[in-house]
Amino acid sequence: MAPQRILTTPSPSLNPTPPKQWHEHLTFDLFMTVLNRSILHPFIAWIIVLCLRAQATPYTHPAFLAAAGYAIFLTALNIAFIISDQIAYGAPRHVDLSEEVIVITGGASGVGRLIAQIYGLRGASVAVLDIAEEKDVKGWEDVGGVEYYRCDIGVRGEIEAVARKIQEDLGTPTVLVNCAATRINGQPLLSLSAEAFQKTIQTNLVAVFHTCQVFLPHMLSSENGGTIVNVSSVLGQLCAAGLADYSTSKAGLSALHRTLEAELRVSGNGDKVKMVLVETGQISTPLFKFIKTPNSFFAPMLEPIRVAQEIVSLIDKGESGRIRLPTYAMLINLYAALPGGLQLIARRLAGIDSAVPQVSFYTRQPGEKLKPQAE
Ligand SMILES: NC(=O)c1ccc[n+]([C@@H]2O[C@H](COP(=O)([O-])OP(=O)(O)OC[C@H]3O[C@@H](n4cnc5c(N)ncnc54)[C@H](OP(=O)(O)O)[C@@H]3O)[C@@H](O)[C@H]2O)c1
Repeated sequence: MAPQRILTTPSPSLNPTPPKQWHEHLTFDLFMTVLNRSILHPFIAWIIVLCLRAQATPYTHPAFLAAAGYAIFLTALNIAFIISDQIAYGAPRHVDLSEEVIVITGGASGVGRLIAQIYGLRGASVAVLDIAEEKDVKGWEDVGGVEYYRCDIGVRGEIEAVARKIQEDLGTPTVLVNCAATRINGQPLLSLSAEAFQKTIQTNLVAVFHTCQVFLPHMLSSENGGTIVNVSSVLGQLCAAGLADYSTSKAGLSALHRTLEAELRVSGNGDKVKMVLVETGQISTPLFKFIKTPNSFFAPMLEPIRVAQEIVSLIDKGESGRIRLPTYAMLINLYAALPGGLQLIARRLAGIDSAVPQVSFYTRQPGEKLKPQAE
């Protein structure tokens, strides 16, 4: 189980997606980004107030009162969000990259691989745990500081052995990024074998229980504490047809995350070990390459680098938090509060329950692997 150097040139599957048609750039996210940086930004709101004063608009003029009221409202809202985050997640922990040892499961591919590359290039100590043999990880170039450990994270003994090796090779693990996920089965429940269901639960959920139990004590013993990042999915709440095993595993993972977060808080370790929960929509990686996003306006495909950068940013700041991308992912808790009829209409409009069956249920022979969609 000696550490193996990994190669880190992005594989073709991680290259940016081909150029889009002009209208494909017009997404709900784009509109929200423009609004957030213009009329929904307190700074812009106060500029309007100042412009009115520059025109000598009286303080009692309705336009001035409306502009000032709006600016005060936005400012108060922003301050309330900052205070809310402080109450929910506490003070950030001190992060010094030269002292951190970052463990990334599933780091041979997709989002995990990008996080490993970012930290490897910055000279941090990085340990990638993945099920593939190092020689089978194609298209990678050597990057200093990134060590590869073949490890099936579904097996507790393998995680414990690798944890001991990481301690010897790199030092005490302080950051754990649970990114690994087993391949998508995309079968209706009646066709899904019990073995396939169990494998998904084992890799996507039970393995996270194991990695947390193995690595958390290291973080608690470390002077600067640590950070645990759990990469879940909006599907844990939206539960699309054809993904019973995947959605169940991600719902469980989000629950596991919140429970551990609560336990750290009540045990007084909430400021020592930070928790980051990632619940995103579809990302352009090999995992869901066989599906085209059912609604590219509300649910545009995310570039993996955007998700990786958000994760790295929270780890670097030493903060806890939630990462929900794209914008619609921030609304899934509101969706859960909708009446059943409205939920169904939203599902039909979004096409969420037809995405997997279209490419999987009707076009595939039993046992045939899912094929990537043509771009
Ligand atoms: N892609 C999306 O649309 C999307 C959306 C929301 C959330 N997520 C979540 O984001 C995370 C990263 O996904 P990704 O898209 O980057 O996936 P990915 O490219 O498929 O990477 C996952 C990696 O985990 C490895 N793995 C599978 N089973 C393992 C095991 N037992 N032990 C160790 N490694 C194992 C995979 O190896 P093999 O390839 O050999 O199986 C692969 O290298 C996952 O948790 C996923 O559920 C993804």
